[in-house]
This record gives sequence, structure tokens and C-alpha cells, in this order.
Amino acid sequence: MRFITLLLGLALANGCAAAQPIVIKFSHVVASHTPKGKAAQRFKELAEQATGGRVTVALYPNSELYKDKEELEALQLGAVQMLAPSLAKFGQLGVREFELFDLPYIFPDSAALHRITEGPIGRDALKKLEVKGIVGLAYWDNGFKVMSANRPLLWPADFDGLKMRIQPSKVLDVQMRALGANPQALAFAEVYAALQRGVVDGTENPPSNFYTQRMYEVQRHLTVSNHGYLGYAVIVNKKFWDRLPSELREKLEQAMRSATVYANAIAEKENADALERIRQDGKTAVHHLSAAQKEAWQKALLPVHQELEGRIGKELIQAVKREIN
Ligand code: LMR
Repeated sequence: MRFITLLLGLALANGCAAAQPIVIKFSHVVASHTPKGKAAQRFKELAEQATGGRVTVALYPNSELYKDKEELEALQLGAVQMLAPSLAKFGQLGVREFELFDLPYIFPDSAALHRITEGPIGRDALKKLEVKGIVGLAYWDNGFKVMSANRPLLWPADFDGLKMRIQPSKVLDVQMRALGANPQALAFAEVYAALQRGVVDGTENPPSNFYTQRMYEVQRHLTVSNHGYLGYAVIVNKKFWDRLPSELREKLEQAMRSATVYANAIAEKENADALERIRQDGKTAVHHLSAAQKEAWQKALLPVHQELEGRIGKELIQAVKREIN
């Protein structure tokens, strides 16, 4: 009798364990109504549906769990399972290939960018994460960046002496110095307050981030410079991923493929809509560069490529240029 009770107990325990969903904690730093926030939500829906609820995706937007650097540490420690940091943040892990995405004026448009993210260069960069205990699943777009400050930024000389918030990226540091500004790396969650208090004078980001973080309340001028790209790599903790039953992992990979198509389909419009809302709000004057101004920005910024060849790899930069030109 005792034996039967024990068996019953074990069966129940197993049954209960099987009924417990596997939880993927997906932490990110932006608002839910951004390209990344919406794509994360889409992944959650697709993943939960495809696995019949065996996997639950818990979303933590807006740096609610961790800020930029902490989230990468949390992923490596397994405190969260999934993130989508901006490509500018991977240099901190010592994986320098990703820095090529920050190079100013390297991608003329998103079609050129996608030739890299969807081709061997993009795949190889994701592979480099494995030694860090991370699996790279996909690239998600945000878009091309605008520059902002409390004075118009029309010529490189307008940046002179400005303290500009950057993501923690050596390339962005060199880029701002090439314009005569003083770069200051700050976590995304701190940008609004830093602009408001004058800790920094200006910043760069795609319009969707500028709008959803309400930076337009504290910046009087914005230039649609499209001088650089900001996008994401969706990454998971490798141990967690490798230990998933393979049929679940395949379903999650499929959900990620569909969420990626969705992410990259909405990003451009999300940014165009955000720019329109900033314009309509009226607190920030929106400037576009004339042909002469754009040429002056390019003249100031293109030497950054050469300056960083030693760090990112001359051959890699050349391979990117061959692929997109
Ligand atoms: C930033 O720090 O400006 C961006 O990386 C935030 C984001 O994730 O889009």
C-alpha cells in the first residue's frame, strides 16, 4: 500500500512538473509601443501559441528589471533568458564585430543593412556570442538615427563642445569626437533625466525612442540626419536554450522567425509616425540637412571608418562595403 501511495505521489509530482510552463523572462529597455516592444509582444504571442502554453514569455519593458549593462550580466548569469540589446551594446562583451553597425554612414539604406544582417557577416557575428554563453537568434530593426540638442545641429561646427549622450560604444564615442562634441555614455533609462537636468546637452536615437521616452519635451532641435543605424540582436542564454526539448526549441525558433519578419516590417513606419508626432507636438523643431550640410557631415564622419579599422577589422569593414555597394 505504502509503495502504491509512493508511486501515486511520484506520478502526481511528475504530472505537476510537466504542467508547469517553462518561463522565458525577456527583459528590454524601451517602451512597449516601440518597434522592439511590439516585436517582443508578437514573439510572446507566437511562442505561447506554438507551444500550446508549454512556454510562457514574461516581458519586462522599460528597464523595469535591468538597465543596459546589468541586463547583459543577468542574461549571462541566467537571471533572465532573453534580451534584445542594441547592437551598440555588444562591444561591452568584447565582441567587436558588432561595432561595424555603429559606423556612421556605412549603410545607405535598410536594404543594404539587411544584406549584412541576413547574410554571412551577420550570421558570423551572432556565432561569436557563443563563447560568451549566448546564442544569437535574430536581428531586429529599429532604424536610422536623428541628432538632437537645444540648438540647431546643421553643420559639424554646431556640435562644438556639446555633451552628447551615447550608448556605450567606442565607435559612437569616436563619432561624437569627430564632430567636436564630448560623448558621454549613459544607460538608456537615464537619458531623459540627464537631458532635463543638463547633464548632457544632446543625444542621438531613432525617432521611435526619442518620442516614446518623451525626449521632445527636453530637446528644442532635432536633425533628421540618418547618419547611423540602431538595431538589435535578439539573444538567449545558451545553457537555457541548449537544454530545451528540441521540439520546443524548433517551435520557438519558428516563432522568432515570424516575429522578426513582423519587427522588420513595422520599424520604418513606426519611426516615420514617431517623427510626425514629434513634429505635431511642436516643442522640437525638426530640421533636414541640405545637400551641402550632408556633405559636410560625411566629410567629418567618414574618417571614423579608418580610425576604427584596427579595432573592428579592416577586412571586415571592407567586406561589408563590398557586400552593400
Ligand atoms: C539606447 O540606449 O539609446 C538604445 O539602445 C535603446 C534601445 O534599446 O533602443
